[in-house]
Amino acid sequence: MSGKKRVLSGIRATGRLHLGNYLGAVKGMLSLQDNPDYETLYMIADLHTMTTPYDPEELRVNRREVVMDYLAAGLDPKRSIIFAQSDVPEHTELAFYFATVVSVARMQHLPTFKDKVKQYPKAVTMALLNYPILMAADILAYKAELVPVGVDQEPHLEIAREIARKMNQTYGTDFPEPQRFETSGGYVPSLVGEGKMSKSVSGSYITLTDDLSTIRKRLATVPTDSGKGEKVPEKGGVANLLVLVGLFMGEDRRRTCEAQYRSEGIRYQALKDELSEAIHRELEPFQRRRNLLTEDQPYVDRVLREGSEKARRIARETLDRVRGKVGLG
Ligand code: ADP
Ligand code: TRP
Repeated sequence: MSGKKRVLSGIRATGRLHLGNYLGAVKGMLSLQDNPDYETLYMIADLHTMTTPYDPEELRVNRREVVMDYLAAGLDPKRSIIFAQSDVPEHTELAFYFATVVSVARMQHLPTFKDKVKQYPKAVTMALLNYPILMAADILAYKAELVPVGVDQEPHLEIAREIARKMNQTYGTDFPEPQRFETSGGYVPSLVGEGKMSKSVSGSYITLTDDLSTIRKRLATVPTDSGKGEKVPEKGGVANLLVLVGLFMGEDRRRTCEAQYRSEGIRYQALKDELSEAIHRELEPFQRRRNLLTEDQPYVDRVLREGSEKARRIARETLDRVRGKVGLG
């Protein structure tokens, strides 16, 4: 043990990362990686990808896409343990022990579960019901105390805390209660009106690999109004556009836009052009690194291999103790 507090986070392998993933999760991962008080573990949640309908060939491709996005964004295998969830079977074993202290009703009533049931009514599997239990195991296999993720993951973290408490009461384990690490971009709205920017809603996102003309095209689809009025809209296209202005051009600029809305009016075309450029500027260094990585697949393989070895060493230690506590050791 290094005596440092641990951090764990993961992103499902469902496609290339978008601005929501970057601002809500990856930026937090980066800032904790830079903090010497923490030991950071970042995984590709490939097993969680299998909880909703997926294509095995796409999963294989997307696992690598997420690793390359991680590395290009600045996650550094010298400072963080970067690995694939499925390469550390201790997670699924721990999830089974955790399942002994969680009721079926608790899982069925979770809002994130209900949302997925609505989205995929024909694919309500045990894997989906188990999603939060596996996520708790991902975190607690390393006794991680901080989890950089977006606001939408808060219900899952609440479950992880409940599980930690229940395990400690029932079996005398010593799991910590993990907390979310917040970033200023914890909720990035969709480009098309309602809800958050999400890989699973087409047209809702800008990916980190989009070039300037694609970013322009995507922003062009954000629905706007006449640009002027007494009250700045609180939801819908204009509201979302202004959130993006705040995130990429600064809060001062956002306030100026709001004042313009209430006086002479906003010219959306010019604002969208400026915003496209601001987003692209922020993504440029990422995209340069990303292009280099695409040509070095052996490096990507090595990162995952070495990462999973390091992660397993830690997770195995936890599992050895838990096996003893639950009566198996
Ligand atoms: P998606 O919904 O696009 O499939 P994931 O569920 O894989 O994204 O989320 C990966 C990480 O990115 C999580 O930490 C999640 O909270 C964060 N995240 C996803 N979408 C957003 C968003 N629009 N705003 C802020 N954070 C987000
Ligand atoms: N549920 C997370 C998401 O949809 C992904 C995830 C799986 C995760 N296991 C995790 C995030 C552990 C943080 C910690 O984004």
